[in-house]
Amino acid sequence: MTDFSADLLDWYDRHRRDLPWRYAPGVAADPYRVWLSEIMLQQTTVQAVKPYFAKFTRMWPKVTALADSPLEDVLTAWAGLGYYARARNLHRCAQAVRDNHDGRFPETEAALRALPGIGDYTAAAIAAIAFGARATVVDGNIERITARLFKIDTPLPKAKKAIKAALAPLVPADRPGDFAQAMMDLGAGICRPKDPDCLICPIRPACGAQKAGTMLHYPVKPAKKPKPVRRAVAFWVASGGRILLERRPDTGLLGGMQGLFSTPWVGRSDFPTKSEALDFAPVKADWHVGNAVITHVFTHFQLDVQIWRATDVLKDTSPPTAEWVDAKTFDASGLPTVFKKMLPKGDDCRAY
Ligand code: ADE
Repeated sequence: MTDFSADLLDWYDRHRRDLPWRYAPGVAADPYRVWLSEIMLQQTTVQAVKPYFAKFTRMWPKVTALADSPLEDVLTAWAGLGYYARARNLHRCAQAVRDNHDGRFPETEAALRALPGIGDYTAAAIAAIAFGARATVVDGNIERITARLFKIDTPLPKAKKAIKAALAPLVPADRPGDFAQAMMDLGAGICRPKDPDCLICPIRPACGAQKAGTMLHYPVKPAKKPKPVRRAVAFWVASGGRILLERRPDTGLLGGMQGLFSTPWVGRSDFPTKSEALDFAPVKADWHVGNAVITHVFTHFQLDVQIWRATDVLKDTSPPTAEWVDAKTFDASGLPTVFKKMLPKGDDCRAY
């Protein structure tokens, strides 16, 4: 083992986060729990995942139990975690493990990657954490740490190959899963994007960027191309103590999430006119067309949204995708950020 991995693992043994899917050093990890946690943690924070992980492992203690359960029950239990394609793949993957692998997860990265919902990162993470394979696990945090360690000047995403190649020799044959999770914890707590805490970093002696004082230069991001702008009108309806939301289709952007009804998000140089927008209004109402505009930047485009508000619904013409929620118990924390930005500020949400 290199000094680097020894120092990192020593730090991990003293400071690791205590997470429900983690095992004490030397205890064999249950691949089912590792897989479940990794799928849940894709695009979701550790804090948000914890209660769902507890619920799923209580309802379905084994992968075969999950596979035997109706998809509907899995989707219901998943509600609120978002990105429902993950839940569908979770169920398909459980069935593939039951039907094609005798109910036991395969151990190699290649065989894991062949399962639904498991990509390069997740296959490497499961192989390392559950099976002790010397796999090179690279998530966003690990990418940043490695780019800093080796001062990798190639911009992302092109740098991904170089990052993996630079990290691979550092992965120890002993405890590769702990090594990966130590890197994740280091990225979350110390080697942070904007304010790395180099003074207490256990791998500072190995870090090229720290020596040069250029930590914030890494990872190098690609030159930004201006993004095309799409424009839409969104409809905020709060009437009779209820708020009107839309359940988005399962597939596509923000699939399965709740949001506000809106006109289609299309590239155009101006906002929809009143008569254009009215065609998409979910209810007949006395609309207040304010000047409020919010902007949200997605991976491939920028979205500018003008917000129309209604507090008096003249006729509820809302489509089957409508979900009326109680304004008093309305909790915006589960909404995608783009929709959170559209809400009235502060307690105004509940003021109807
Ligand atoms: N994010 C994804 N996988 C994780 C893990 N095993 N521990 C902490 N954070 C994670």
